Amino acid sequence: MHVDGIPYRTVWLAPDEPGLVRIIDQRKLPFAFEIEDLRTVDAVAVAIRDMHVRGAGCIGATAAYGMVLAAMEASAAADFDSAIHQHAARLVETRPTAVNLRWAVERQLAAMAACDWAGEKIAAAERSARAIADEDADACRRIGEHGLNLIRQLAAAKALGEPVNVLTHCNAGWLAFVDHGSATAPIYAAHLAGVPIHVWVDETRPRNQGARLTAWELGQEGVAHTVIADNTGGHLMQRGLVDLVITGTDRTTYTGDVANKIGTYLKALAARDNGVPFYVALPSSSFDWEIADGLREIPIEERGSEEVSHLSGQAPESDVEVEVRLVPPGTRTANYAFDVTPSRLVTGLITERGICDANGAGIRAMFPERF
Ligand code: MRU
Repeated sequence: MHVDGIPYRTVWLAPDEPGLVRIIDQRKLPFAFEIEDLRTVDAVAVAIRDMHVRGAGCIGATAAYGMVLAAMEASAAADFDSAIHQHAARLVETRPTAVNLRWAVERQLAAMAACDWAGEKIAAAERSARAIADEDADACRRIGEHGLNLIRQLAAAKALGEPVNVLTHCNAGWLAFVDHGSATAPIYAAHLAGVPIHVWVDETRPRNQGARLTAWELGQEGVAHTVIADNTGGHLMQRGLVDLVITGTDRTTYTGDVANKIGTYLKALAARDNGVPFYVALPSSSFDWEIADGLREIPIEERGSEEVSHLSGQAPESDVEVEVRLVPPGTRTANYAFDVTPSRLVTGLITERGICDANGAGIRAMFPERF
C-alpha cells in the first residue's frame, strides 16, 4: 500500500546488497516513518520479539527473510544443519501465538533440506522467502476481492451515499502482512470500487495498534475512519451504527476457533447479542491444521507489564514521543496479548479462496487437501 503516495511493502530484501533485510519500523508509527536495516538473524529475532514488525503475516515473512540470513550464517559454521536448526528455533520462540511464524520457518527449512550444498541452500531460502512474501500479498489481495462482495451486499441495503460501517480491532492491515492486510483488504477494495465505507477503529490497548497503525494506514489511503476507545463497540452496535465486524487472526484452528488481539472475544459477544455479522479475514497460512480446540491449545503470549502500566504518544507541541505512567507506582498489571473467540461466535472466515463457515466442515470444504 502507500506511504505519502509511494507504494511500500512491510519487509523486503535489499536489491543491491546481499544479506540485507529491510523493514518498516512499526514502533515509530504514526509519528515517524523509518526503515530499519537487519543484517543478522539476531537482529531479525529482536525485531520480531520487540515488535519492530508485528502482525501474523508480517512476522511470518520477516522470519522467512531471517532464514536467508540464517543460511548465510550457518554456511560459515562447522555443521550447517545443526546451526540452521538453532537459528530456526531462535526465530520461532520470539512470538508464540501467531502460527505464521512457525509455518514460514518450517517452509524455509524444507526448502533448504532439498539442496545439498550451502550455496544452493542459501539460494533456495532466498527464492522461498520471496515466494512466501509474494503469496502473502496475493492472498490478502484475494481476501479483499471476496470480502468486497460482502460489503457490496450491505451497501445495497443502504440509502445512496450512506456508508457501510465496519468495526475492526487492532491492526490486521497491510502493516500486519506484506501488503493489503487481511481485515483491511475488503475495506480497501470497497474504497477503490467507490463503495462508501467508514471504519470504526478500536484503539486496542495496551499497545494501541488500532489508534497508532490502523488509523495511520487508513488515513494514508484516504479511507474515512473514527478511532474509538476499546469499550465503545457494544454501544455502537446497540445503536445500529455497526453493519459488520471484520477482524484478523493470529491463529485459527481447523475447527474455526480464532485467536486474535486481546478484546476480540468481547466484540464477538457484542456482535452476536446485536445481530451484527462478525467475520474473520485470514490467509491460509494463519490456520493451524494440527489443533482442534483453540481455548485449550493455542498458546497465549503474555507480554511485559510496562505495556499496561505505561502509555506512549507524542508530547504536546513537539515531535518527540514520550512515555507516561498510567497506574500508581507498584501496581501489579497483567498483559495477555491475545484471546480466543470460539467458532460459534464467528459468522464466517474470509480466506483467499472464498468465504466459508467457521467450523470443521466449512474449512474442510474450502481446503480439502489439508485434511
Ligand atoms: O501483537 P501483534 O500486534 O503482533 O498482534 C497481531 C495483531 O495485530 C492482531 O491480533 C491482528 O488482528 C491479527 S494479525 C493479522
